[in-house]
Amino acid sequence: MEILQIEGGSPLEGRVVIGGAKNAALPACIASLLTDEPIILRRVPRLRDVSMILFTLGTMGKRAVRDDRGVIISSSGRLSHEANAYAVQQMRASFLVLGPLIARLGRAVVPLPGGCRLGARPIDLHLMALRALGASIEERCGAVHARAERLRGARIEFPFPSVGATEQVLMAASLAEGETVLENASIEPEVIDLIALLRRMGAEIEVVERTMRISGRERLGGAEHRLIPDRHEAGTFLLAGAATGGSVTAVGADASTLGAFLDALRETGASVESDAESIRVEAAGRPCPVDLVTSPHPGFPTDLQPQFAAYLSLASGRSHVRETIFESRFAYAEGLCVLGTRVLRDGDTLSIEGVDTLHGGRVQAPDIRGGAALVIAGLAARGVTTIGQLVHLDRGYGDLVQKLEGLGASIERRTDA
Ligand code: EPZ
Repeated sequence: MEILQIEGGSPLEGRVVIGGAKNAALPACIASLLTDEPIILRRVPRLRDVSMILFTLGTMGKRAVRDDRGVIISSSGRLSHEANAYAVQQMRASFLVLGPLIARLGRAVVPLPGGCRLGARPIDLHLMALRALGASIEERCGAVHARAERLRGARIEFPFPSVGATEQVLMAASLAEGETVLENASIEPEVIDLIALLRRMGAEIEVVERTMRISGRERLGGAEHRLIPDRHEAGTFLLAGAATGGSVTAVGADASTLGAFLDALRETGASVESDAESIRVEAAGRPCPVDLVTSPHPGFPTDLQPQFAAYLSLASGRSHVRETIFESRFAYAEGLCVLGTRVLRDGDTLSIEGVDTLHGGRVQAPDIRGGAALVIAGLAARGVTTIGQLVHLDRGYGDLVQKLEGLGASIERRTDA
């Protein structure tokens, strides 16, 4: 089994280049199902999840190649209406192929996505929306079987601004007949980036606050699009710099997508500066405790909650972290306790009693962002920390070891005896 071995305790210093956003890349790749013409995506991160989605598309009549222009996704033959079961089970985002397949082919068979450590992660809003657009949908034998003569525009309102369900509607409604109005939509930067790509493909989409109007088209064309930078990768490296008492510049990061996160970072006493090209954090001694509540964008992002909790393990007092998006996103707390953190969970809130030092230990990554939290704690801890279950980190962080080494971390990836 491969593990990360970190000799912590030294400040991270320097500049790190931020890659394209994973959570923009996945729906953007899937949007290629909406046309037979080539889609060229630039700044596509080299991540396990991206390889998985390109593999899935490869089993459905698409071909993806990566060259110096980026990732080119073109048609390799007839589009299949069935999605690869293995891929969908591996990664929930693959479920987004459902809407495009119904819109293009009038039918689809897509396996139900698995749950994960974050909670049940149902798909009821995806199915409610596609039924509203005229699809008949049946769940049987662990898969969704869908049919529709032609999708028709509808008015849909979400009880919760689901990221994936919003992306599902945006893609399906772009080829539906008539206008779709979506209320209480997700406006995460990655969703807005998908809209930018769809518009380049010929879609007509208007966004006013959380209301989206999509005027369906007969067909969509090819396009070229540069993905936004990964705000979650940027936040992870900035927190690693702050937690180790160093100073880190995230090159290519977009501060306008991280407002609430950067405000919270400043509240801990760290100094944060940003310009059009980068964001720089400089630690100012032990962080002050803060209280965080995650919420849909532009609120504090749930995908930086675990990493921020790791940083608050070193605060000069008690912090409270409340997770409102997922029913259980504290699986990393167990690993933090191995490294010396003192936490108490009460329902959706984790109380963290800051300590002045963490110590090394052996831990396992529970999920993508929980794994990142343990890396941050290991970098700040005195002594050696080993982290297993690297498949989670590989899903969300490309070149993690190289990038951390570039900031002065003593870290290596090796096979555990
Ligand atoms: C996306 O997941 C992201 N994944 C997640 O990032 C992110 O944490 C999440 O949005 C919230 O921002 C990708 O973009 C690939 P949701 P998604 O639908 O679309 C409930 C990472 O680490 N819900 O906004 O699955 C759901 O159970 C990943 O990069 C329903 O109840 O998130 C959850 O509690 C982790 N019914 C909440 O809404 C539904 O039909 C948020 O889910 C859909 C969702």
